[in-house]
Amino acid sequence: MATIVGAVTSSHVPAIGRAIARDLQGDPYWKPFFDGFPPVHQWLTKVKPDVAVVIYNDHGLNFFLDKMPTFAVGAAPEYRNADEGWGIPVVPPFRGEQDLSWHLIESLVENEFDVTTCQEMLVDHAFTLPMALLWPGQGAWPVTTVPVCINTVQFPLPSAARCFKLGQAIGRAIESWDADQRVVVIGTGGLSHQLDGERAGFINKDFDLQFMDSLACDPQWATKYSIPELVELTGTQGVELLMWLAARGALTGRVSKVHANYHIPISNTASGLMVFENQP
Ligand code: DHB
Ligand code: FE
Repeated sequence: MATIVGAVTSSHVPAIGRAIARDLQGDPYWKPFFDGFPPVHQWLTKVKPDVAVVIYNDHGLNFFLDKMPTFAVGAAPEYRNADEGWGIPVVPPFRGEQDLSWHLIESLVENEFDVTTCQEMLVDHAFTLPMALLWPGQGAWPVTTVPVCINTVQFPLPSAARCFKLGQAIGRAIESWDADQRVVVIGTGGLSHQLDGERAGFINKDFDLQFMDSLACDPQWATKYSIPELVELTGTQGVELLMWLAARGALTGRVSKVHANYHIPISNTASGLMVFENQP
């Protein structure tokens, strides 16, 4: 059976793509952000995942307002990136892990998560940038992938409690996948930020830090908040923290926090990074 080695949760700001393309990792603006990643690289070298299940939110590249699934799972042989208009380079394609995709889809539907199945799927910066941060080096991706997309673009959004339960169902599905493979779960989004409207620029450091703490010691803490409460507390795009909750929910064993980094601001966002190891 497959093993879940742990989870990595990260922010996914488009400007990171520009910083990588221009080699700005040592620039004073970027250094506190990129300095968060070497411990993640060391951990990945130690746990050696074969597959990444990437829980992210699309921002209009693959799904637009005309058709918006609440939960979608990729089942494609390959996932390509495309120009989203941010002016950042497109990255090389990702290999899909189709056997796990179909196992995940069957298992989630059986568990009453009626997901949209995507045999073609473009992946946006929320998928590609965390991958480029975790495995730097021009897209020689050492893992195969399964994208899982949660709607945070068009209301109504799924509740925090529902996203945590989705994560738990994803965890059970991975652990019942009949393959000798090591799987890392990645959750990308957040932390607090608001890109438009009267509160554009809103950041809530106190809440972010409490949320990060909670994932280590009381992972369901944030599920007590409704979506409007989370928008109030973290900003309209801060609700992307739902991806972190789902990723954390997937860890079913003995979980230990390996690493955390928090830095304000990257573009308009409070950027967070965490690594959790999972012992079955
Ligand atoms: C920014 C943050 C995001 O999460 C995103 O998807 C796009 C832009 C930003 O801070 O600029
Ligand atoms: Fe985003």
